[in-house]
Amino acid sequence: MKISFSCNGETRDIEAGAEIRALDILREDLGLTGTKEGCGKGECGACTILLDGKPVCSCLLPAPKLEGCEVVTVEGLKGPDGGLHPIQQAFLDTGAVQCGFCTPGMILSTKALLDTNPAPTVKEIETGLSGNICRCTGYGKIIEAVQLSAQRMRNE
Ligand code: FES
Ligand code: FES
Repeated sequence: MKISFSCNGETRDIEAGAEIRALDILREDLGLTGTKEGCGKGECGACTILLDGKPVCSCLLPAPKLEGCEVVTVEGLKGPDGGLHPIQQAFLDTGAVQCGFCTPGMILSTKALLDTNPAPTVKEIETGLSGNICRCTGYGKIIEAVQLSAQRMRNE
């Protein structure tokens, strides 16, 4: 079936059946490989995208559910000057990126959190990122990155 949706601000028209996952459309049809596949079962959050502003696991999302929606992947994030988004910069500045496999999903979950709560507590950050697993950092640096990006975004 034909599916039309917006991805990172551009209209996309694709053909896909209900057996195809949104993750495959993004990575294989659109070449947006920033969205990662980890578990493929909705457990790790590596495949997180924003769907109408909300973080969802694209490995569990049938492609037809994209119809009429606005999708943002990590490739769609930009800072005010067109460079890195403040969340991306804060992850780099705090050393919250090690192997980087979890990072796109972490960054998109952080964006969804800060869009609704610009000054989250540590507990709120932990809850906001509870669907994203990181095997490298121990989470301390990631929490620091979220706090730093929140502070920078409030001061913009
Ligand atoms: S790959 Fe989707 S949640 Fe792990
Ligand atoms: S940086 Fe390696 S899984 Fe998070």
